[in-house]
Amino acid sequence: QSGQFTFDPGFTSTASCESQITFIDGEEGILLHRGYPIGQLAGKATFPEVCYLILNGELPSKSDLGTFNEEIKQHTLLHTQLDRFFDGFRRDSHPMAMLTGAVGAMASFYPGAMDSEDPEERRLASIRLIAKMPTLCARILKYTMGQKFVDPRNELSYAENFLSMCFSVTAEDYNVDPKIARAMDRFFILHADHEQNASTSTVRLAGSSGAHPFAAVAAGVACLWGPSHGGANEACLNMLHEIGSVDRIPEFIARAKDKNDSFRLMGFGHRVYKNYDPRATVMRESAHEVLDLLGLKDQPILKVAMELERIALEDEYFVDKKLYPNVDFYSGIILDAIGFPKQMFTVLFALARTVGWIAQLNEMLDDPTQRIGRPRQIYTGAAMRDYVPMDQR
Ligand code: SDX
Repeated sequence: QSGQFTFDPGFTSTASCESQITFIDGEEGILLHRGYPIGQLAGKATFPEVCYLILNGELPSKSDLGTFNEEIKQHTLLHTQLDRFFDGFRRDSHPMAMLTGAVGAMASFYPGAMDSEDPEERRLASIRLIAKMPTLCARILKYTMGQKFVDPRNELSYAENFLSMCFSVTAEDYNVDPKIARAMDRFFILHADHEQNASTSTVRLAGSSGAHPFAAVAAGVACLWGPSHGGANEACLNMLHEIGSVDRIPEFIARAKDKNDSFRLMGFGHRVYKNYDPRATVMRESAHEVLDLLGLKDQPILKVAMELERIALEDEYFVDKKLYPNVDFYSGIILDAIGFPKQMFTVLFALARTVGWIAQLNEMLDDPTQRIGRPRQIYTGAAMRDYVPMDQR
């Protein structure tokens, strides 16, 4: 066509893959991990139990779970040289910048994990990542606060240990409230995996070249950072604070509808869910529980969130575009109430999603037909042409 040549990319649909880990029905608002509904897992299981399920395909027996927990506890410490890695960061660095760098740096301590043909190396890499992410994330929080690092305590559960490493100080240990620990554990379950979202697809693509699994996960951390993806929890809390009071909600609803305004309601909408995100339902209940427990249920921000949700769900624009609250809408309220600075919110999302990333990577590497990922394009550039000498330009 007019000197242009047409290029047939040889595909019509976007790249997709087969997986047995997570099922989403966006129209019905259904999310299953290995067949189990997210609401049942969040209500009845623990995060380590869900990690075992996502990694291995079945719920663990009591002894399996005991063995799994014990193995995790044996790998919670970081190499002491990694602690010095933080000194290279400014104290006010965004925690996601530090996590991206630190997870990639961890690859240098486990060269054996490059051997994706060795199932034991692959299994150990999965255990190490799940075990060390809480320690790494807690150190990032402590570094930004200028406080001494707190080491893992093996007598605590996964969520309790993470809270202890985040909030204990040398003067006194942090008394972990079991209900807060349960809310933390449930937060982790709700973020564990979510099919082929942007960051998981990034991990799969990076890992498809045979890259170190820790480096592939670091690529996933980088992708999750964006406000359209995992960064939405921090952006949503910023938005709720910017709205400030219920009477200002109509102003922001109008902005969200205005095509000339780049503003979007953070925590609303989804690439797949065209119904209520089932995780948001559990997260909203958890937000009420945590704020009630901490005597914060009269917090203006919860009122703004509830009223914003009510108005948006009744508004014709949002109903027509099937925009519902997603996992990020209430999560920031919970984390803020527990005491995390909002720049840590996406770090906590990454901590939880690590099991999904590594399980999806393993599933891809287990496939004997697996080849390096190579998305194609539809070329719309210049047709072939000859070089033009400088004096003729
Ligand atoms: C996560 O993929 C995953 O699974 C991700 C995740 C996971 O667990 O890994 O679920 C985690 O990333 C959740 C999403 C967090 N992001 C946010 O909350 C940021 C705010 N939401 C959006 O930016 C947006 O909804 C996206 C990015 C999530 C989806 O964007 P799309 O693909 O454009 O959404 P769409 O196709 O459904 O949009 C339909 C219409 C569009 O308008 P039109 O082009 O039809 O005119 O609705 C508009 C959009 O512009 N729209 C919004 C909106 N989200 C979509 N308008 C106002 N506010 C919003 N939040």
